[in-house]
Amino acid sequence: MKIEKYKNFDLTDEEVFHTVIENFELGRPDLDELKAFAGRNPRNRSRFCLHRSVNDRVHEMIIAHPKGAYVRPHKHVGKAESMLILEGEADYFLFDDSGSVESVVEMSALGMGKPFYKKTAPSEYHSFLIRSEWLIFLEVTAGPFNKIETVFPSWAPQDEEVQQVDQYMKNRFAVLGNTSKPQVSHTEKLI
Ligand SMILES: [Fe+2]
Repeated sequence: MKIEKYKNFDLTDEEVFHTVIENFELGRPDLDELKAFAGRNPRNRSRFCLHRSVNDRVHEMIIAHPKGAYVRPHKHVGKAESMLILEGEADYFLFDDSGSVESVVEMSALGMGKPFYKKTAPSEYHSFLIRSEWLIFLEVTAGPFNKIETVFPSWAPQDEEVQQVDQYMKNRFAVLGNTSKPQVSHTEKLI
């Protein structure tokens, strides 16, 4: 049976639930439900949008991604973004405009010993690799959402380019294989 609603959320897209009210709370069981929804989707991803409209001035999303998910490097023109990890571990990358890695930060949920919060300045290319079975995180940015403000570089493959994505992921994990410190800087080319 197709799910169309979860509590105060309407399913507005295969992967996206949007709240329909302003007063609500979420707990651990809701994150488990989010993972369950994600696990049934073709891309194994799902999110709760905690804002009611794409036109809202604050956009908050709780997002579930599985291990191995490809998050195509991108930047948000004129908008900062923050990530707060609720479950799991990830390596957060910043890139310069040509695709060289500027920094990698090993992150984990609060209590797991690594930074749990990352703020990224406007117009910085970023991405992350997931080290745990699932990564669940709160993402916050300014609205309204405007698709053209999210820019994808030519040096990072599109989601559909399966072989290139596979190579990209191998290259990224190869970089991480050389890291032992919580934060390192690299200056190698991407692909
Ligand atoms: Fe982003």
